[in-house]
Amino acid sequence: MNAIFITGSNRGLGRAIAEKLLENEENLVIGIGRDWSIDHPNYRFLYLNLDDIIEVKAFAFSVFNEEIKSVGLINNAGILGDVGLLGTLEDRVIEQVLNVNLISASILINKFFSAFGELDVEKNIINISSGAAQNPYDGWSAYCTSKAGLDMISRVADEEQKLHAKVPARVFSIAPGIIATRMQEQIREVDEASFSRKQKFVDFFEQDLLATPEDAAEKIIRIFELRNKLDKVVISMKDLE
Ligand SMILES: NC(=O)c1ccc[n+]([C@@H]2O[C@H](COP(=O)([O-])OP(=O)(O)OC[C@H]3O[C@@H](n4cnc5c(N)ncnc54)[C@H](OP(=O)(O)O)[C@@H]3O)[C@@H](O)[C@H]2O)c1
Repeated sequence: MNAIFITGSNRGLGRAIAEKLLENEENLVIGIGRDWSIDHPNYRFLYLNLDDIIEVKAFAFSVFNEEIKSVGLINNAGILGDVGLLGTLEDRVIEQVLNVNLISASILINKFFSAFGELDVEKNIINISSGAAQNPYDGWSAYCTSKAGLDMISRVADEEQKLHAKVPARVFSIAPGIIATRMQEQIREVDEASFSRKQKFVDFFEQDLLATPEDAAEKIIRIFELRNKLDKVVISMKDLE
């Protein structure tokens, strides 16, 4: 079996990725998050609130006794948080966004290598990033920062694996493009006074330019299938179109 852990698999992009992976009966998908909406014989669920760092630090990876051919981690869960200019944000928003998007994801990467690093099996990590990792958007300070951090920890992990691991893991940080999920609904509802690009996102929606979660999931899996031909760590879906 290929054991694939994925955070935030109960809706949006994460759910679509998990469901696509479950089409292959050799995949065992282990959802990590606060809720569970997939019912499938090869799906398992582990409760974890990624905003609770004490809980995340106590988390331990395990692979349920199955014979494992490869092991993967997809850090998908993410929040935009309340949108607002620096100086007006509640401190808690910054804490929450960095907790979910970066600190928990980084701790999970650390724990993944600690649990599986020495295993003589294929290992893969995909972090779901964003175009906001590379571009400063007003009102999105914590989100942009968290995704930039996710890109960098992916690059460091890749470097460490190449230099130090016996069986190096592949690590990718993928910006998935604009997808019709709850996160986009939130963006279309924010106050334009704190997010000057709001109208652009409304236009994308009205012009039907959002990918479905299923299409975005399929592209991410296609990138993963090409992993042996790719040498980049940070990948934008746009580069591949
Ligand atoms: N949609 C886009 O256009 C877009 C663009 C670029 C990047 N992304 C990235 O794609 C990823 C998936 O986002 P999405 O668009 O699918 O958004 P979404 O529909 O809002 O889904 C977010 C997922 O994250 C989980 N999550 C949030 N807070 C959590 C917490 N404290 N603990 C555990 N899980 C938590 C949610 O679970 P709950 O149901 O428990 O809240 C949900 O499963 C994110 O990393 C996002 O930054 C999205």
